[in-house]
Amino acid sequence: MMNPAAGLEPVAALDAAALRRDFPILHQQINGHPLVYLDNGATTQKPASVIDAVAEFYHHDNANVHRGVHLLSQRASDRFDSAREQVRSLINAASTAEVIFTRGTTEAINLVAQSYGRSTVKSTDEILVSAMEHHANIVPWQLLCEETGATLRVAPMNDSGELLTDAFTELLSEKTRIVALTHVSNALGTVNPVRTFARLAHAAGAVVVVDGAQSVAHGPVDVQQLECDFFAFSGHKLYGPTGIGVLYGREALLEDMPPWQGGGDMIRTVSFEGSTWNTLPHKFEAGTPHIAGAVGLSAAIDYLNGIGFDAIAAHEQALLGCATEKAKSQAGMRIIGNASDKAAIVSFELEGIHPHDVGTILDSAGVTIRTGHHCAMPVMQFFGVPATARASFGLYNTTDDIDALFVAIDKAQALFAR
Ligand code: ALA
Repeated sequence: MMNPAAGLEPVAALDAAALRRDFPILHQQINGHPLVYLDNGATTQKPASVIDAVAEFYHHDNANVHRGVHLLSQRASDRFDSAREQVRSLINAASTAEVIFTRGTTEAINLVAQSYGRSTVKSTDEILVSAMEHHANIVPWQLLCEETGATLRVAPMNDSGELLTDAFTELLSEKTRIVALTHVSNALGTVNPVRTFARLAHAAGAVVVVDGAQSVAHGPVDVQQLECDFFAFSGHKLYGPTGIGVLYGREALLEDMPPWQGGGDMIRTVSFEGSTWNTLPHKFEAGTPHIAGAVGLSAAIDYLNGIGFDAIAAHEQALLGCATEKAKSQAGMRIIGNASDKAAIVSFELEGIHPHDVGTILDSAGVTIRTGHHCAMPVMQFFGVPATARASFGLYNTTDDIDALFVAIDKAQALFAR
């Protein structure tokens, strides 16, 4: 999935070295070394065009949206509405009614759990999640199960970090109301065959919620092609601002769902006897939204469209191949997560060195990775590790960054060999 152009026309190569010039933050020293940023799974850096778009919005167009007849409010509303169209086009939703702005992936999944879930799930029902989910795609469902009496089931994976289709199918039944699945595992890099699982889930009568936080910036995403019912992602992992994210939902489902939060903009009428709701998507956007965030997200999508998602995917797959080859020949290094379809995420452990020590030593060499459980404690438990070190790549990474990573790994191993 992350390399959709494989076997088709060659994709124009991406010039990462040139693109780096668009990212001001990358040009600094960390602990006396040039910054090597390999924590893109946690958040991506922002091109100047995104930073400038947010600043320019506050300089020139700031006003509240959908609330004023004055020109500034109309300009702010136009920019907010055009950001929604930009997102619709990015994920190929059928209509902007299906694109709801949220704070991020986590809020989007909670919205589905609290609105769709609470209004449809009964005590005899089941919710199926996979064994490799981020806490944001586990805990909202646990809360829903506590509230409704429903049961949480877990679809298992193998030692490579791939879901088992037969076991998944066996867990589906007429009791399954919701299947919640990550598109790409943040801890392992596994790309799940969402459409295959969505078809199986739909055949059992369940709806499918996809956590797209780790996929949407790394290749083309088409929610209609994935055949999912809901798809959640965050702006800040898409080279956009923090605090803005998206829930895509199929219009027929969203129409039937009750509001989640009440407040301004989500209502049509309010009286003390009762209220009626605004049309989609506003029914799910109570209160003043993150307007500048949407403007920044729109600028990020513009930037990425200018590069091309096929080119980004091909570039990152080349980096993944290079890093994986080096890791395989590095004594004492074990990769956690060896799925046949992977995004450019390399989770690893170094024999005899705690991952937090790995992270600290790498940081002293300017190499920025994430260490810990990656908000995926069940994945750590499955692989029998307390934590991993994780290098995650983005469009501006180069093979020089991989070389710097392995020089720093050599340093860590040499220090601990003493
Ligand atoms: N979910 C983010 C990560 O994987 C924060 O690092």
